Amino acid sequence: MKFFLDTANVDEIRQALDWGLCDGVTTNPSLVAKEGRKMEDAVKEICDLVGPDRPVSAEVIAVEHDAMIEEALERAAWADNVVVKIPLIPDGVKAIKTCTGMGIPINATLIFSTGQALLAAKAGAAYVSPFVGRQDDIGYDGMEGVEQIAQMLRMYDTLNSEIILASARTVAHVIRGTQCGAHICTLGFDTLQQLFKHPLTDIGLEKFLSDYRKLEEKLGA
Ligand code: G3P
Repeated sequence: MKFFLDTANVDEIRQALDWGLCDGVTTNPSLVAKEGRKMEDAVKEICDLVGPDRPVSAEVIAVEHDAMIEEALERAAWADNVVVKIPLIPDGVKAIKTCTGMGIPINATLIFSTGQALLAAKAGAAYVSPFVGRQDDIGYDGMEGVEQIAQMLRMYDTLNSEIILASARTVAHVIRGTQCGAHICTLGFDTLQQLFKHPLTDIGLEKFLSDYRKLEEKLGA
């Protein structure tokens, strides 16, 4: 499973790259707004930082087909590794098809059902992004949808979208994603950090180190 970092914060991306745990980046308008920067400036810097082999998603703001295409062309020109994020609304599905036809890779976003993922995949989206945490927030099991989408995509050679498990908030989301074969998980920095953590690791390390320090003292090292 590839890890994308779901952020527009360059310090977080730098840290994830340093850990060897960043295969790409996804942003959205809220994440860009949080950084208080122009989307173009943020995305260009991120693309430069991660290098040409890691895709970086930049979302359109427009909600009407022709305007979406205009913004998609603009964003695709920012860097070679830009993937344009388009929301799953009727004009969005049409725009996904148009962009795909023009060779612009698309990440279909705001997907909350298997039917929506099917529409995006049929339109040729390179990536479909089902949002898991936001489904859990309203009492559903978001991962159930990802599992269905994974099964659906496996059934058809003609549907070539990769799944980006989005809105991943817990270690359990990530692990269930690996079990159903989600290709990518996009993680906020906090969720990425959660993956490292286990209380027994900390307790075990503390014990190993203190035992060895005692030995060193005894041997007069
Ligand atoms: O970027 C799309 C998605 O991952 C957003 O996640 O945590 O805002 O629901 P979240």
